[in-house]
Amino acid sequence: MKKALIFETRSGTVEECAHLLKEKIQDIEVINLKKDKPDLSKYDLVVFGGAYYAGMLSGKLKKLIKRNRQALKSKKYAIYVCCISQDDYKEVLIKNLGKELVDNAVAVELFGYQVNPQKTKCFNRFVLKVIKKAFEKENKPLSAIKEDSIDAFAKAINQA
Ligand SMILES: Cc1cc2nc3c(=O)[nH]c(=O)nc-3n(C[C@H](O)[C@H](O)[C@H](O)COP(=O)(O)O)c2cc1C
Repeated sequence: MKKALIFETRSGTVEECAHLLKEKIQDIEVINLKKDKPDLSKYDLVVFGGAYYAGMLSGKLKKLIKRNRQALKSKKYAIYVCCISQDDYKEVLIKNLGKELVDNAVAVELFGYQVNPQKTKCFNRFVLKVIKKAFEKENKPLSAIKEDSIDAFAKAINQA
């Protein structure tokens, strides 16, 4: 089974998660959407990784998934997201992709977040600096990647 992990990141969290996930899934090709335009027809199983910005799933990733809506019907695929808001992450995903695409995924998981202003520029850096200040004031962690969610997600993919 040919597998790909396709991700989009602004400040590195989704990429870090991609590498953690790669260690748990055999022979999976990791593709950064900023560098490559993947041809999904080459793969039997595709993992999509993205983050939320202002309530929207990463733009390029969202377009890629929606453009391949038909092709994905005959493929196995899974989606992970990184974001700060925890409880409604699935509803946000449904709002962005539609219920069918979310329901038909082999696995859907929230991997947590990081607040990494130093790893990005311009507007994203500004927003993350504001969040960082607020989090430091409230003693909230600046990095909260959920290793157990990554494990559960990898398990579901390895069993697919
Ligand atoms: C411009 C901007 C907008 C964001 N909007 C949201 C949001 O609407 N909901 C949320 O939970 N997190 C939001 N975040 C936090 C990111 O989802 C979080 O930092 C995530 O780890 C970023 O992933 P990345 O480092 O791979 O880009 C936002 C971050 C930025 C920079």
